[in-house]
Parts: sequence; structure tokens; C-alpha cells
Amino acid sequence: MSLLNKRDKFATNLGVLAATLGSAVGLGNIWKFPYFTGQYGGAAFIIIYLICVVLAGVPVMVSEFIVGRRANSNPVGAFKKLAPGTAWYAIGYSGIAASFLIMLFYTSVAGWVYSYIFRALSGTFINASPEMTIGVFGKLITSNYEPIIWQIIVLIVVSSIIIAGVQKGIERMTKTLMPLLFVLLLLCDIRALTLPGAQMGVEFLFKPDFTKITREVIIIALGLAFFKLSVGMGTMVTYGSYFDKNQNLPGTAVKVALSDILVSMMAGLAIFPAVFAFGFEPDAGPGLLFITIPMVFSKMPLGNILLTIFFLLTAIAATTAMMSLLEVPVAYLVEEKGYSRTKATLTSAATIAILGSTASLSANAGSLLGSIKIFGKTFFDLYDYISSNILMPVGGLFTVIFIVWVLGKANLAAELSNDGQLNNKGVINLFYLIVKYMTPLLIIIIFLNSIGVLKF
Ligand code: PFF
Repeated sequence: MSLLNKRDKFATNLGVLAATLGSAVGLGNIWKFPYFTGQYGGAAFIIIYLICVVLAGVPVMVSEFIVGRRANSNPVGAFKKLAPGTAWYAIGYSGIAASFLIMLFYTSVAGWVYSYIFRALSGTFINASPEMTIGVFGKLITSNYEPIIWQIIVLIVVSSIIIAGVQKGIERMTKTLMPLLFVLLLLCDIRALTLPGAQMGVEFLFKPDFTKITREVIIIALGLAFFKLSVGMGTMVTYGSYFDKNQNLPGTAVKVALSDILVSMMAGLAIFPAVFAFGFEPDAGPGLLFITIPMVFSKMPLGNILLTIFFLLTAIAATTAMMSLLEVPVAYLVEEKGYSRTKATLTSAATIAILGSTASLSANAGSLLGSIKIFGKTFFDLYDYISSNILMPVGGLFTVIFIVWVLGKANLAAELSNDGQLNNKGVINLFYLIVKYMTPLLIIIIFLNSIGVLKF
């Protein structure tokens, strides 16, 4: 192979870890995981979540790494290469569709986060009353242009990193940003945990309450495991295709899953002790991030600096996650359609900006777009629902079926042991058992349940 058409790759093990963790750690850690944990039974929810991570999240992640690295290709090309003349490549298209749909609403929320860095920095929330803080968010999302401008700024930032390449863009940025995110989060944790009354927030997060575990909660935990670990939509196939042959695939997946949970818990510990210390109600999603947090942080000594830091770290988390989402269509357009990397990135980003504006504008219930409902959902919710509840579980399910029944155990063992270099027969047998029986069963039961076909 000539040097010119050699595929760009991650250069170091640390780079692989930073990039993959950068994809996993995102808005999900900050506004989904902590709230779900507190709301659905603390440590009891964490146990259910961990079961979903062990039986579905990590196995699907490893399966995607296998497909990507073995084929050395984007998701569509990978399935075409590994199963020529079949329709398995449809999984690749489903992945591209899912990552695209996620980008439509994710870039919108990321835009709000970016704008809050500047709002915090300029002192908007210092001494603001609750009404004023609610008003700031209301004004942002009801504006017809501001959210779209921020969404475009987000896309410009992410696109410039993607255009720079896998090694010079994604790897270099995540290697710098992930440690920074960790340090900033640690600062917020120390401040929150040393507030008088912090104890109640810690209890809200961790006190186990098994009575809260219902079937809905199990569905939520599985969906969260997929979303959190960025699996079921081709992201990890794409990143896996940039791993070299010596990368330990199961080891990488386990490290990413554990670090991701650690970051989620650290986010919870930065948020809830402070929320309780100041007597606020824990909220979820936009309410937590854009209203409760500014109100709570602005009440602490040095709160405004901390608030700026908090939004900065949230922006970092969202940005590294979006890099992996944008890389999916970009790798496809470059390898399957012959686009240059720059053209592929700009085409994808422009399409996301145009379609994504429907997500941004539909977040305002009073607007024309906000009043349009498809299957009872706004554009924003629809993109989230189709990607998280349909495309991701289905994509994950077919990926594990593919590696068991099409690739087969011998190929799988070769990939997991790096062609016999690693002495990990036990891991291989365990992995095979899980992906052959447990992962499909778990996904099928939960999926049928969530779309209402099966009731238990
Ligand atoms: N894992 C990211 C989060 O928790 O916010 C979201 C995400 C990124 C989902 C990349 C899917 C993906 F491909």
C-alpha cells in the first residue's frame, strides 16, 4: 500500500483510550446518568445499569471493534467486506442514520451549553433570582436565531477537528481535553462535597432502593447503557477501524466502560450535594443543566467561576462525543463515495446544520415548529426516540448476531487474542457465551417490551 492511500489511524494506546472514552463521556454523563440514578433507586439502579453494561454495552462495543478493525473500514464498507454479496451492510446504513439523527439534537443542546459558558463568564447568574434564571433559558430557546447560531458554532468547532484528521484532530484533541475534563470535574466535586449539607445529595445518589426497580427502569437502564457507551450506531466500528493490530479489544472496552461510570458518578457528586445543600429539588435534563445548576452554583462562594468551569467541562464532554458521531458519516463519504475529508465533513456538517435547526426550533413549544407533532413527539424528541429506542438496539442486536453467526468463533477468537498474541482463552469463551445467548436475549426482550409488542 502506498503511503498516500494509507488510512489514518490512532497512533498510541493512550490515544485510543482518550478518543473512545471521549466518545462515551458526553451530555449523557451529566444530565442523564446522575438524575436517573437518583430518581430510580440510587445504588439499585447502578447495579441494574452495570448488568446492562456487562451483558449488552461492553459486548456490543467489543463486537463493533472487531468488525471495524478486521475490515479496516467504515461501517457500510466493513460489513460489505466481511460478508460480500449479502445485505448485512444495512447495519452500517442504520448506524449512519442513527449517528446523524443524534447529531441533530445533540448539537442543539451542545449549542446551549456553549452559550452558557459565556453567560456564566459575563456574570449573568450572579445574584439572579430563580425567575431570572428561568427567564434566561426561556429567552435562549425561544429565540428564532440564537440557538441556531450556537449550533452552527458547535458544528464549526467539531468540523475543524474532524478535518484535521483521526490522529492530528481526534486523537490529539481528546488526549488534551479528557484529562482537563477530569481535573475540572474533580474541582467541582471538591467544592460540592465540602458544602454543609452535602450528605443528602450523596444519599440521593447512592442509597439503594430496590422498590424503585420496575420494568420501565430496566428499559431505561439498557437504553442508557447503549447511549452512554456510544454503541449500536457505527461509532465504535469506525473508531475500531483506526485501532492497530496490537490493541487489546476487550481490555479497551472494559477500561472505557469503567472510566465512563466513574465520570458519571463524579458528575453526580458535583451536582446533587450542592442541589440539596441549597434546598433545591433535583430535576432532569434541560431543567437540571440550564436552570437548577446556575441557581445552585451562583449561591456558593466562588460560584460564578465554578459555574463557568462546569459549563466548560460539559462543553468538552459534548464536543469529544460529537467528534465520534460526525466521524461516522465522514468515514463513509470518504471511503465509499470518494469525497475528500474536507468535503465529506463540510457536506455532513451543513446537512446537520440545516436539519438540526428543526430540533433547535422545536424546543420552543410556542413556535410553529414546536407545535408540530409527529407520532405525538416534537422533532427534537422524535430524533432522540428513533435513534435511542429503535436504531441503536436493533443495530447492536444485528452486530452481535453477525459476529457469532457470520464471522464465527474462530475469527472472533483470532481478533480477541490478536492472532494468538494474547493468552486470553477464558475471556474469549466468556465473551462468546455472552454474545451468543445473553446479549441478543436481553436486547430482544427489552426492545419488544419498549415498543409494546411484549408485556411483562
Ligand atoms: N455517549 C455520549 C453521551 O453519553 O453523551 C453520546 C453518544 C456519542 C451517543 C456518540 C452515541 C454516539 F455514537
